[in-house]
Amino acid sequence: MTITYLILTTMKFKNNILFLLIVSSAIGYGFIYSSSSEIEKIEALSSEIKSQNLVDVEIALGGEKPNHHMKEFDPELAEAGELLIKEGKASYNGKNGSLISSYFNCTDCHNLVKETESLTDLDPQNRLDYLVKKGLPYTPGSTFYGIYNRDKYYNDDYDKKYGDLVVDARDTLENAIQLCAEYCASGRPLVDWELNAIMHYYKSQELKLKDLNLSDSELNKIQSSIKNGGQDKETLKLLQSKYVQAYGATFTGSKAESERKYGEGGDVENGRKIYESGCMFCHKNSRVTFLNLDDDVLSGQYLWKHRKGYDDLSIYQVVRWGTYPIVGRQQYMPLYTKEKMSSQQLEDLMSYIKELAKK
Ligand code: HEC
Ligand code: HEC
Repeated sequence: MTITYLILTTMKFKNNILFLLIVSSAIGYGFIYSSSSEIEKIEALSSEIKSQNLVDVEIALGGEKPNHHMKEFDPELAEAGELLIKEGKASYNGKNGSLISSYFNCTDCHNLVKETESLTDLDPQNRLDYLVKKGLPYTPGSTFYGIYNRDKYYNDDYDKKYGDLVVDARDTLENAIQLCAEYCASGRPLVDWELNAIMHYYKSQELKLKDLNLSDSELNKIQSSIKNGGQDKETLKLLQSKYVQAYGATFTGSKAESERKYGEGGDVENGRKIYESGCMFCHKNSRVTFLNLDDDVLSGQYLWKHRKGYDDLSIYQVVRWGTYPIVGRQQYMPLYTKEKMSSQQLEDLMSYIKELAKK
């Protein structure tokens, strides 16, 4: 009895298992089949959308076409643009340009790559830390990374320096380049092909959707929005919250003497970073200026001695106002806005100078 029962139940059991196996593998197969093709489809779509130019996606969502929008792209011209930016001269199609400026290259004041881990991070200390980590200079100008995707230039207080010259440069990238070539770089205006070449270089570096580090659900939202005909201001706004369209520029003026801490309580190590990756980038071996600065006690003592007052030799003054080119002396000191150097960072710099001067 017991044996028959056992045999019967195991048979039943076996049958059940078999049945279950058949059913579940059928379901499973169907499930695996459909989900893998779905996943592939989603992956293909999202890698396709991720490599799209940000500008094009924005236009599809109802964004305005930038006035520098470029349809045709010539990689050779972009290469010439890169040379103009890095070395100050280039040739293209048998045309040979002369040096834009005998005093500066664009890269003395502008980096070409990302300056913070996150594209929306505007904190000057995070910028400094990131630049030091990457071995890049701590420059007074904003990076060219993503500049094709900006719509405003020389913002806020730059009219205090360049007056009416900034009016036409504020919403037109080509004019911003010309202003900088002639005035920031103390050079000459660019001829048409050179200007076009720099624009092509900017275009070659434009942001793609993948640069914005969007989550899968954000990408899905964008995709379905475009599938449904685009024109979706809310999704457009979401995209625009992921990168900077205009860099702020606040002129603080020089600190009143009564507010200066002259190195008291500052972060010496942080000051050293500013000095070495910022000041020394231009002043080491008098690279773009007559003023030689190095890690020697003499440099420290020179800067320390002039710390008081409001003339161009006082760090508190020169870092905030810069100097102006004069006839016969076209190199000048560009200023650091509040967005590029905080008040605390300036004090940190001063505490390093104090230490360097052994005071
Ligand atoms: C001596 C320093 C210096 C040099 C050299 C220089 N620039 Fe600038 N540039 C600046 C500063 C400072 C600004 C102010 C706005 C900013 O970058 O935040 C600026 C702004 C710009 C802007 C607008 C950026 C924005 O987002 O507001 C463009 C475009 C530009 N420069 C292009 C050039 C080009 C091209 C060259 C080389 C031909 C060049 N610059 C050389 C200092 C410089
Ligand atoms: C983009 C290049 C650049 C950077 C960065 C820079 N400087 Fe200068 N600086 C200059 C130039 C050019 C001059 C003009 C001096 C000349 O006439 O040769 C100058 C002038 C000065 C002067 C005044 C010299 C005088 O006799 O009028 C001081 C002081 C000075 N810089 C300090 C600093 C300090 C401190 C830093 C760092 C926070 C710094 N600079 C960063 C380019 C730079």
